[in-house]
Amino acid sequence: MSTFWSGWIIVLTLTNLVLLFWLLMANRKRAVNTNDNGEAKTTGHEYDGIEEYDNPLPRWWFGLFLATFIFAAGYLFAFPGLGSWKGYFGWTSANQLEAEHAEAKATYDETFGEFAKMPIDQLAKNPEAMKMGSRLFLNNCAVCHGSDASGNFGFPNLTDKDWLYGGEPDRIKETIVLGRQGAMPAWGALLGEANVGNVVEFVLQGAGKEHDAAKAELGKAIFATNCAACHGADGKGNHLVGAPNLTDDVWLYGAATPEELGSTLRQTVRNGRAGVMPAHAETLKAERIHLLSAYVYSLSQDEAK
Ligand code: HEC
Ligand code: HEC
Repeated sequence: MSTFWSGWIIVLTLTNLVLLFWLLMANRKRAVNTNDNGEAKTTGHEYDGIEEYDNPLPRWWFGLFLATFIFAAGYLFAFPGLGSWKGYFGWTSANQLEAEHAEAKATYDETFGEFAKMPIDQLAKNPEAMKMGSRLFLNNCAVCHGSDASGNFGFPNLTDKDWLYGGEPDRIKETIVLGRQGAMPAWGALLGEANVGNVVEFVLQGAGKEHDAAKAELGKAIFATNCAACHGADGKGNHLVGAPNLTDDVWLYGAATPEELGSTLRQTVRNGRAGVMPAHAETLKAERIHLLSAYVYSLSQDEAK
């Protein structure tokens, strides 16, 4: 702002204040005007029988007026308002924001830094840390895993003890940092539909579900040849490649009803699956990932699932 306009605004503002003050004082009355009979005089204005008195302002009201002048003078001295005068305290909204940021960051760094030094299994028992972890989870993970972390079709439940990649603190952290890519090959073309059906009956048998025993018998050899490498000879899965345990009743790609389970499993085996857990190394700071790892670890610890 040029000096001229700054000066112009200062003069305008101050003149206004002075004039208003003068107006207030010039019109000030102290005593009630009375007529010869000692009654309060009116201005002579009348409307519908209502007359206007000519009395002084109530004292408190006059006091309020004065207070606004004092406030205005104080404000214009302390804060920006008069042209380019920056105010006695040099306040700006930008540096207030900066100060608040710095304060928030300091407390954050302090708590996160303190938590970052604690081992994950210990951190998982710290209620304050878990409250922060839960908030981080809601912001970063709940879109896929659900706000209660119980997962959904294609998104694993993180509250049970059934792990694709392992539930040890360091494995969980590695999952979050690096991300994971499930790679279940498609077998439709290789095996043909009949054998896809047979191997699925074998999987259903292993999981203790209703199955066709004759087909399962045929599927057994197919499983040993094609599937055991990843899912294990016993079908219990492999944390190194994220191959799920097929012998429990926990399904990553499950079905709404038991009747539909067979057809969903056939679809998985026929077409393959490729679940992607995004890497968070770039998007989340190390201390936050540490806290999140502890939070995820804590979810499967409280209940004996
Ligand atoms: C875009 C969706 C998405 C987001 C966001 C996401 N995940 Fe995942 N997550 C997945 C999928 C899909 C898998 C399973 C990967 C697979 O099928 O191999 C997975 C797997 C995992 C696993 C491994 C589970 C197991 O059984 O081994 C953990 C732990 C995990 N996520 C934690 C998190 C955390 C913590 C966050 C938040 C920082 C997060 N995820 C954010 C989709 C997501
Ligand atoms: C190269 C390793 C590999 C081989 C070989 C393999 N799988 Fe998989 N399978 C996986 C992985 C990894 C997943 C998880 C996919 C994901 O996370 O999206 C999976 C998922 C599945 C699922 C879904 C489980 C669930 O919880 O929903 C079934 C069923 C399955 N495989 C059956 C088979 C059968 C039957 C064969 C043999 C014909 C087979 N797999 C061969 C790696 C393999």
